[in-house]
Amino acid sequence: MIDWINTKRKFSMLVLVVGALLITGCDVVPLHMRQQARFDPLEKSTLFENGMASRPLPANTVPRGEWGKMMMDDVFFTGKVDGDVFVQTAPIAVDADVIRRGQDRYNVFCSPCHGYVGNGDGIVVQRGFQKPPSFHDQRLRDVEDGYYYDVMTNGFGAMYSYASRIRPADRWAIVAYIRTLQYSQNVVVENLPADNAEAVQSQLK
Ligand code: HEC
Repeated sequence: MIDWINTKRKFSMLVLVVGALLITGCDVVPLHMRQQARFDPLEKSTLFENGMASRPLPANTVPRGEWGKMMMDDVFFTGKVDGDVFVQTAPIAVDADVIRRGQDRYNVFCSPCHGYVGNGDGIVVQRGFQKPPSFHDQRLRDVEDGYYYDVMTNGFGAMYSYASRIRPADRWAIVAYIRTLQYSQNVVVENLPADNAEAVQSQLK
């Protein structure tokens, strides 16, 4: 009986000690890692001549990658020139790969409402969502590339922003693809290469 009580006590003590250790955690350790010597951003320092802990960037430092490009190139990032005028032409080199990328992103993000051809009859609209205007309306054929970029970036009326879902380079690729869709519905057959023109003519007959 006495042995049993002792065992129970020992166990209670163990629970207490382990519990206390768990609660205090790493703070009982004398070396607090989170209290090591360091400078906060822009803090003073007597170590450097200018009295600041933060060091200036070395000369000729250039930001790299997409974010660096954004920081340096406002048109790419905003779709606007001088802060408020939509840029006429996308500030990227458009080739077949960009258009294919734009098609891929468009089909994922835009076609559910705007439809695969851009008529505004996507599946979500067929199920009752507000119908967007057709990309083949003269007004939307005439707007600047920067306007499309801006609608994706900031949203428009009932349409929400895609800024968090589509990265800037892909937004421009989508603009290039929308231009391709617009062209596809307004081709001047005489301007096509001969074999394409023939193929189209035979379809029209
Ligand atoms: C959930 C449905 C939906 C999706 C997805 C969607 N849109 Fe829209 N979009 C709309 C609606 C609805 C309008 C009309 C909004 C209004 O007039 O209030 C619109 C309008 C527009 C306009 C026309 C603005 C104007 O001046 O009339 C553009 C351009 C546009 N969307 C581009 C896009 C692009 C590019 C994508 C893909 C990145 C996209 N939308 C994805 C629903 C959508």
